[in-house]
Amino acid sequence: MKSGPVIFLDSGVGGLPYCDHFYKLAPRISRVYIADRANFPYGPKSRFELENLLYALIGKVIDRWNPPVIVIACNTATITAIDYLRSSFRDVTFVGTVPAVKPAVLSSRKNRIGVIATERTIQEPYIYDLAAHFKPETEIIGFPAPELVEFVEQDLYDTTREERLKRVGSYVDMFRTKDVDGIVLGCTHFLFLIDEFKALAEPDLMIFHSVDGVSRRVLQLLENRGELPMDGEGNLDVSGGGRLVVTGSGPISPSWKRFGEKHGLIVEGWE
Ligand code: DGL
Repeated sequence: MKSGPVIFLDSGVGGLPYCDHFYKLAPRISRVYIADRANFPYGPKSRFELENLLYALIGKVIDRWNPPVIVIACNTATITAIDYLRSSFRDVTFVGTVPAVKPAVLSSRKNRIGVIATERTIQEPYIYDLAAHFKPETEIIGFPAPELVEFVEQDLYDTTREERLKRVGSYVDMFRTKDVDGIVLGCTHFLFLIDEFKALAEPDLMIFHSVDGVSRRVLQLLENRGELPMDGEGNLDVSGGGRLVVTGSGPISPSWKRFGEKHGLIVEGWE
């Protein structure tokens, strides 16, 4: 039995909303959020590089925490490397996060959907294949937005809502000119800007994301594996709480401390 915490992993802050969602659903199960800043950003890297760096990182994570479930809370890492990780680490269960292309194409009347994501996600066949699988007549307008990833990572809490709206507005305007009727937030970092995207896009342009569902899936898997930690009275029992572990050398920056505080996680570095 694996008694370690549930792991959430992304290149930076992008997967924190998944970790938060899980905490709301299962507040007594310990969780460790890994921000792989040593390798940030993932978006410009090749599939080969991502497979290799994630293989090395997951090996270290398993040695240190012995987790029952690892959530790859990053669309880029899921699309490129989850199959390789699953076949390499067979006794850990991986849960991936993929862009919400399915609900978007199924509800599109124009059969034209925008996907905003990293360069890697836009270049990989995954999102186009998924759309073709559910509705072959759909056209996907993919748009890479590495600057928006950087913006969320570096500037999120130092900007006003007006500034955030301005940033997001340029992408929404661009998608409007492409005559799509839905935009998929295909990078977990953009979940921090959901309100701004919705405010500017809806109701004529629907915004799709995939936060819901992942936490439920993790709980279900823990249950199925008989690995829900219980106290003597059959209640969920874990004292571990939550940690935010930032990879790479150097001191933890004030902005990481701020993310830790906002998300109720104790912050630590990991070389
Ligand atoms: N948050 C990531 C994703 O969902 C990747 C951001 C990056 O490191 O480029 O794709």
